[in-house]
Amino acid sequence: MTEDDAIKLLKDYIKNERMLNHSYATEAVMRALARRLGKDEEKWALAGLLHDLDVELTNADLNVHGIETARILKEKGIDPEIIDAIIMHNEKVTGMKRHTEFQHALAAGETITGLIIATTLVYPDKRLASVKTKSVVKRMKEKAFAASVSRENIMECEKIGIPLNEFVEICLDAMQGISATLGL
Ligand SMILES: [Fe+2]
Repeated sequence: MTEDDAIKLLKDYIKNERMLNHSYATEAVMRALARRLGKDEEKWALAGLLHDLDVELTNADLNVHGIETARILKEKGIDPEIIDAIIMHNEKVTGMKRHTEFQHALAAGETITGLIIATTLVYPDKRLASVKTKSVVKRMKEKAFAASVSRENIMECEKIGIPLNEFVEICLDAMQGISATLGL
């Protein structure tokens, strides 16, 4: 699947702008993580871009979120490893614990995008370019800040051998690289 086809597919299923931006942010983050770890950048980026494909189709119901994406992507002949990472980003649906680097990277990577955006929005200028790694790390420890962002998922960065500080730095840098797209 080409990147153009993937974006078209994404837009067929996701209409909410915030969710589209979340998909683009996760794509950028996954590409950067793959580069850092010497993995297949295109493959990891595609998983990031499409990981929430069925969020509107399933009304974000965590009992089924991921199943529809897996079905759609299987029909398209997408690499099973990508489908596996995507379905495992919602452990609830599989009843299994994440165990591969790809799975951990996607769960941690898609989750940190939420904390980075929440941190950006409390900066006076609300610009990604102004955000510092240490602010995001500080917010990480404030449990009441963006409380719905799972700190546990983010800490899975350690399972891919990237300490929190560096993880935030890589992901923040990746998102800053597409700030125009994200409008932040
Ligand atoms: Fe997501």
